[in-house]
Order: sequence, then structure tokens, then C-alpha cells
Amino acid sequence: MEMQRRQTDVLIVGAGAAGLFAALHLPAEDDVLVVDKGRQGEGSSLWAQGGVAAALGPDDSVDLHIQDTLRVAAGHADPAAVAVLCSEAPECVLQLAELGTRFDRNDNGTLHLAREGGQSVSRSAHAADGTGAAMMETLRQRAAPRVTRIEGSCVKLAVSDGRCVGGWVLTKDGLVEVRATATVLATGGVGGLFESTTNPSGNTGDGLVLAWDAGAGVADMEFIQFHPTALNAGTGHQRLLLTEALRGAGAHVVDAEGRRFLFEHHSDGELAPRDVVARAIASRRSWLDCRHLDADVLQNEFPTVMNGCRSFGFDPTTDLLPVTPAAHYFIGGIQTDLDGRTSIPRLYAIGECSNTGAHGANRLAGNSLAEAMVFGRRAARAISAQRAGRTKSLARPPDLAPPRGSTEDEWAALRALCQRVLGLERDGKTLATASDELERWAISDLTTNRSDLELRAAAIAARLIARAALLRTESRGVHHRSDFPEPVLGWAGVRLRLGSGRKA
Ligand code: SIN
Repeated sequence: MEMQRRQTDVLIVGAGAAGLFAALHLPAEDDVLVVDKGRQGEGSSLWAQGGVAAALGPDDSVDLHIQDTLRVAAGHADPAAVAVLCSEAPECVLQLAELGTRFDRNDNGTLHLAREGGQSVSRSAHAADGTGAAMMETLRQRAAPRVTRIEGSCVKLAVSDGRCVGGWVLTKDGLVEVRATATVLATGGVGGLFESTTNPSGNTGDGLVLAWDAGAGVADMEFIQFHPTALNAGTGHQRLLLTEALRGAGAHVVDAEGRRFLFEHHSDGELAPRDVVARAIASRRSWLDCRHLDADVLQNEFPTVMNGCRSFGFDPTTDLLPVTPAAHYFIGGIQTDLDGRTSIPRLYAIGECSNTGAHGANRLAGNSLAEAMVFGRRAARAISAQRAGRTKSLARPPDLAPPRGSTEDEWAALRALCQRVLGLERDGKTLATASDELERWAISDLTTNRSDLELRAAAIAARLIARAALLRTESRGVHHRSDFPEPVLGWAGVRLRLGSGRKA
């Protein structure tokens, strides 16, 4: 089959909140091509429940948001990135509301703000507990007339004379060569690597590995955030998220004796930073108790949770909900500056696949959707300012082997390994053994099969995470080593940057 060729101004890989918000901020005359893996209902943005953090409340300020973000980030955040995130988030939320997202409002018309873990005041703009879905509806509607959507997987980026000049996309009709003046990775995180996750399965580190294969630097790979309260029910590796806003609304975490034990771990109890709550919950059988909350409030403000729980046979108004931590958010990623630029000219990364330094070693609740918009918009503006001549031709297309047919057993083995070794508690010995195992993991060539491509990406991402987790001989934020259980002064502010060593 002959390879199709397309030329565009901007190629965006990923069709979640970051990618589409960026698309809306590119000049109207630009051709924008968005690559969407395209499984119905996929993408973490769509699944986001809690909200978007922005200092919009009467008792809040950008300074307070900055302070909370820095405190939770465990001495590891880049203050400049935090300042950008917190000062630009309010405008992005208001813009989204103007575009049509129906955030919940108070009787006087102001935005209703929910309080989530680590926030010293209520700060998360939300649409009940379906904030991501509401945002995505707006973004998809608004972006549809502006972008060309192509369903498929980007298999390789093209780098010519040291600059990214597009990539190759595998669609059901074959390989498409896309020449682009700028390329943006917005592919989300790595929850698909774990046995227990709040993410869709397709979050397999695709963008991270595209950038890595092309020679871009990645950073903070050891920091993976686990959400403390996922419903411990069902088969498969996806877990229903029980949003932190429930705890913000007064739900309790209890043990088998019915005791609210989190205060033994942190004075903020249920609203302590996520890493603290997650490790405490992992240490014993735990339940979320919502039974004392008003049934109408639960139904009206948490319909996603209520319907989800019912589908597993639990009624939150009468039943205790068994909870377990689950892989939720990838803090590390493709290292960028504050405008989404990676180490490869004309290659940008935004949202969860990127690493700006804004989350440090532990992300504050609500800062992920805020990050997607703030840095998506900034990257779009940087791209607009950096007009350059069109790309003439790409390098040689990738060789794609015939499908290998990755198996469920292979996925199960990789997920079990990641859960055991890269989860909430790590230790040097296990990490070293796992790193060797991952180095030997048969990483296939690029093939024409999506699951093969995802398994390859997942295995490479796991290697990089294990490598960084082994190197960081301390505990900080979400990275906890039982052999180095305390933060080490010498590691403060040290960001582990891994480079593939390939020449871009
Ligand atoms: C949640 O709803 O608890 C998750 C929100 C977030 O991760 O920021």
C-alpha cells in the first residue's frame, strides 16, 4: 500500500484537554492535525472527576495557591513553573467557562469551588464530579471546526537537521507521513503500566517514548502519584476513582474497627497530601465512609461516583466503600521549558506527558487540568511566535514489522512487575533486579499492531522509571524507598534528567 503524505502547520499527538486547548490557541489560519488513538471514551481528561485548581475564591490568592503547590511538592518544584501555573490558571478556567463549560455555580452566579487534598482553601472549579467530561465536551465542540482529526497511533517522530519535522502515523489505512512545522506531544500518562489504576488502559507512555526514541530528555521519571481512594472492586486493572472532593465534602476513611486512622499519619487527616494518605491506606484494609453525608448532596454532586459504585453493587449512602490506592498521575515526563519546548527544536510537550517541574515530587489536587490548559496555551503561543518555513521532506519512514501479537499474559506480567516494584513502596534491591529484568524484556520492533506498539512503549517507560527510582536514594513526595525512608538534603532540588544519548 502506498504511503499517504500530508503537510500541516502543527501536528498534535493526543486529543485530550492539553492538546485541544492548545489547538484552540493556534492562529485560525493554521492547519492543525490532531492524532487521536480514538478508542471511545478514552483519555484521562475525560475521566477527571475532581476539578481544575485556580485561585478564584474570595479567600484565595495566587500566592496561596503557589504556597500550597510548593508545600505539597516536597521541596522539589521549580518555583518559576509553579508561579506560571498558579498565576495563569484563573484566566484559563474563566476562558473555558466562556467557551461553554458548565462549571457548578453558587446561587450568586460565582463559580462553586470544591476543596481537595493539600488545598488550604476551596479551589477546584468543577462540574459535579464529571469535570473532565464537561471540559472535553466543550473542547471537542470548539476544536472540531478548527482541526483535522486523524485516528491512529503516531509510531515515530521525524528529526531532520536536529529539528522535529513531523512524524509517521499508523492508521487503519496504513502509514501516513505527516510533515509539520511544529509537533506537539500531548499523550497523557502511564497508568496503563499498573495493575491498579484510575487511568484508561491506553495510557502507556506513548508520547514519552516517541520523544525518548527521538533523543529528547526526560526528567523526574521516579515520581508517580497514586490516588488514595479508588474503589477496590471489579476485575481488570482499571479502578473507579472515588474523588478526593468526597473527602473534601466530609467523607471519612476508616479501618476495620471503624476508626479514622489517618490522623495518626498527618494532622490534616483525610485532606493530607495524597502520598501520605495513599501510603496510610495501603498499610491496612480501609474503607471510605460516606454514609453520614446527605443523600441528595451525594446524588447531585457526585453522580459519577454514585452510578459507578452502584454498578459494582455498592450504595454509598448505606455501604462502606472498600478503597485501595491506584496509579493516577505521572509527574515525570518529557522535560520542557515554560513554553512546552523540549530539548529538540520544534518538538513541544504539554500536559501529563510533559515535565515542567511545576508538580515537584507530589502534585497538588486540581493542578493537572490546570497544567494542561496553562501550558497548552503557552505552547500554542510559542509555536505561533516561532513561524518557520515549511518542511520539505522527512527522513526514511520507519520499518514496521508484521504484527507480533502481544498477549494478555505479557501485559499481565509487565503490570504485575510495575505494581510490585514501582508502586508506593520501593527498595533498591527489588528495583535493581527489576531493572535487569526490564532491560532483558523483549522490546519488539515497531510493528503495525497497536497493542504491540503500546507494550513496547510501556516496557521502555517502565525501564526509565525503574532507572530513575533506583538512582534516587532517598524518599521524597510520592517516591518512597523503604531502604532510604527519609528525604536527603543532598537530593533536594536535584532533578534526575535522563537522556537517550541519541543524536537528535
Ligand atoms: C480527584 O478527583 O480526586 C482527582 C483530582 C486530581 O487528580 O487532581
